[in-house]
Amino acid sequence: MNIILPKSYTALQLSSKTIGFSMGSKQPEGELLKALITAKPKGHFLELGTGMGLSLSWMVDGMDKESKLISIDNDQNLLNEVIPHFKDDHRVSILHEDASKWLQNYTDEGFDLVFADAWPGKFSDLSKTLSLVNPGGIYMVDDLLPQSNWPEGHQKKVNDFLTFMESQPQFITTQLTLSTGVLLAVKKPLSH
Ligand SMILES: C[S@@+](CC[C@H](N)C(=O)[O-])C[C@H]1O[C@@H](n2cnc3c(N)ncnc32)[C@H](O)[C@@H]1O
Repeated sequence: MNIILPKSYTALQLSSKTIGFSMGSKQPEGELLKALITAKPKGHFLELGTGMGLSLSWMVDGMDKESKLISIDNDQNLLNEVIPHFKDDHRVSILHEDASKWLQNYTDEGFDLVFADAWPGKFSDLSKTLSLVNPGGIYMVDDLLPQSNWPEGHQKKVNDFLTFMESQPQFITTQLTLSTGVLLAVKKPLSH
């Protein structure tokens, strides 16, 4: 397939290499995010864990003119690399905050897609995060397949997370063996 990379993607990859940031989302997850976001015109999107902006660049690539996106990270050094690439896009808000605190305080409109790529929203604050997904909206995480660099005890964290997600009656959940391992959970529309 002839995939067109998002604007800034190559530059962000280069910055990742330069500063030694190796946690960036991979291209398959990015392509999936772009496809899902394209299916949500006038959408409202949330990313927890901006990182080096790699997944963000795919998400933004899928957005129409009336969509909006909030991306949050607590590492100002990373954000300093990312913000210049999106500063002229009025649809995108990049916040330097602790995502857990932000989630606890957030009371505004819900989201049509949440990509939870930091500890908060995945291994903590999960119920609050899921409550922010609109009916028909999507919750997505990656990094679920075992990796050699996982610290001791991380597999149990992932197992507990998967068990919790599978027990959520409001969500239709599926796991994909794509790339680092993806979970997609769609909140049932009100008509279900
Ligand atoms: C897996 S990386 C995200 C990679 C990003 N999606 C990309 O494609 O470049 C996880 C990010 O979460 C951030 N993070 C970790 N704990 C956080 C917290 N409590 N609040 C906000 N961000 C956090 C880290 O600084 C890191 O950039």
